[in-house]
Amino acid sequence: MSNQAVHEAVREHYGAIARSLDTAQATSCCGDTPSCGCNSSSLYNVEMLEGLPVDATNLSLGCGDPVTIASLKPGETVLDLGSGGGIDCFLAARRVGETGHIIGVDMTPDMLAKANANKHKMGARNVEFRQGQIEALPVEDNTVDVVMSNCVINLSPDKAAVFREAYRVLRPGGRVSISDIVTEGEFSPELRAQVDKWAECVTGAIDVEQYTGLMRQAGFVDIQVVDKVTADDLAAAQPGLPRVYSARVTARKP
Ligand SMILES: C[S@@+](CC[C@H](N)C(=O)[O-])C[C@H]1O[C@@H](n2cnc3c(N)ncnc32)[C@H](O)[C@@H]1O
Repeated sequence: MSNQAVHEAVREHYGAIARSLDTAQATSCCGDTPSCGCNSSSLYNVEMLEGLPVDATNLSLGCGDPVTIASLKPGETVLDLGSGGGIDCFLAARRVGETGHIIGVDMTPDMLAKANANKHKMGARNVEFRQGQIEALPVEDNTVDVVMSNCVINLSPDKAAVFREAYRVLRPGGRVSISDIVTEGEFSPELRAQVDKWAECVTGAIDVEQYTGLMRQAGFVDIQVVDKVTADDLAAAQPGLPRVYSARVTARKP
């Protein structure tokens, strides 16, 4: 599959979710597939979600909580890769306060429309959403304190470029706080070619050692897998597949 084909399939998948969400509630980053073990209703501490528009909490498609482990401080600039309906941007906005700034980047126009509608409902003046690809970020060099991402980098066909871009936009000393799907072992080329499963945050996932290796190659240091939640459903359903996890990873630009 070409990078362009992956992007198109992913954009179509998340565009359809965004358009259908007027009535339905998303269940996880993987839609109806019981594959990654993510359940959007239990990703965050309940108190964190108080006061957020229901359209933002319903459109939570992540696989963990990267905000809590980001140690955000008032005044910081935060970039969210693949911001979706904006839930992590709004949670981060409260932590950085009015002097801080949150930028959400997403390539799916229908998701950006939802995120901007949520921003309007909240009156969140310190949040902006930009259309773009996380492999070529529409963000200046050395301008961001924290790069966050929730269940998105596994979807990228060029993860090395994503980490290079994250490194480029971070200020020296800037931090990374990611929640993502990773594996132990690899999916076969045949499974990787299943574009629908890729778009559901399954077969685009790579081995956790390879994932952290790409971060190291991009220049990151202090790379830590903070926690890993096993998602046994997929392995149990189809023996021979790699173990699939939702992991939280932090790192720092020297
Ligand atoms: C599983 S959803 C996660 C959304 C959000 N982070 C959350 O926690 O609810 C993945 C999002 O990433 C976006 N996305 C996927 N690949 C992308 C890419 N290469 N560049 C920009 N956005 C991307 C999709 O459009 C979608 O909104």
